Amino acid sequence: MTRLQYYGIMTMLRMKVDISTEYGIPIYKVNIGINTHLIHHVEEYFSREGAMHHLERGGLSTRTFDGGMHLHNIEEFKDLSADIIKHADVYWGGYGLDRYYEPYIKQSWSNRHYRGNETLSHIHSGSPIVATYYMQAPEDSGRIYFENPLEYHQCHEPRSNDNRRYIDIEDGTLLIFPGFLKHGTEASQTDLPRTVLSINFGYENRKPVITYQRKQNENIN
Ligand SMILES: [Fe+2]
Repeated sequence: MTRLQYYGIMTMLRMKVDISTEYGIPIYKVNIGINTHLIHHVEEYFSREGAMHHLERGGLSTRTFDGGMHLHNIEEFKDLSADIIKHADVYWGGYGLDRYYEPYIKQSWSNRHYRGNETLSHIHSGSPIVATYYMQAPEDSGRIYFENPLEYHQCHEPRSNDNRRYIDIEDGTLLIFPGFLKHGTEASQTDLPRTVLSINFGYENRKPVITYQRKQNENIN
């Protein structure tokens, strides 16, 4: 998708969406605001079910992968989830994925960092696109970074060895990017909590199904 096409969608959504193309890969960034009620809700969740995760250095994660509840399945998160799916659908086509399919939320969880905590470099296997939504991202709580997926292919090119690109985040930032793009966070330098909701998307047939004829007539990718 070109910047012009994205601009059309931004106008339609009446929101300021930034599309940075790190390594030629579009990364979708928009601020969808915060909901203090949800922050209180996740506070309770952490105090009841917070656990360590092997991809986190310190901090807490909600227990999604060992029998705990995925946050998007909780009533309080339904509106937020629906909002995030709308953005994911925009990104889906923009990134060039087949619009015969539409993204849905397959898994969701939350990580919380305090001073010195960080998320180690990782990918989200099995998910074409993923989202991170920052419910709390105070100053100095750590930027997200993305690693160059072409690092090995570009190894004979005269490039800096620094293969990480950093993106600033704030309260309410929603990022959407491909699941294969390796990423992590800087260590937090503040005592205030940094709380992120992470989402893995799956995909299913779009409803109503876009027929082959309609795809041809309307030039749908
Ligand atoms: Fe991640």
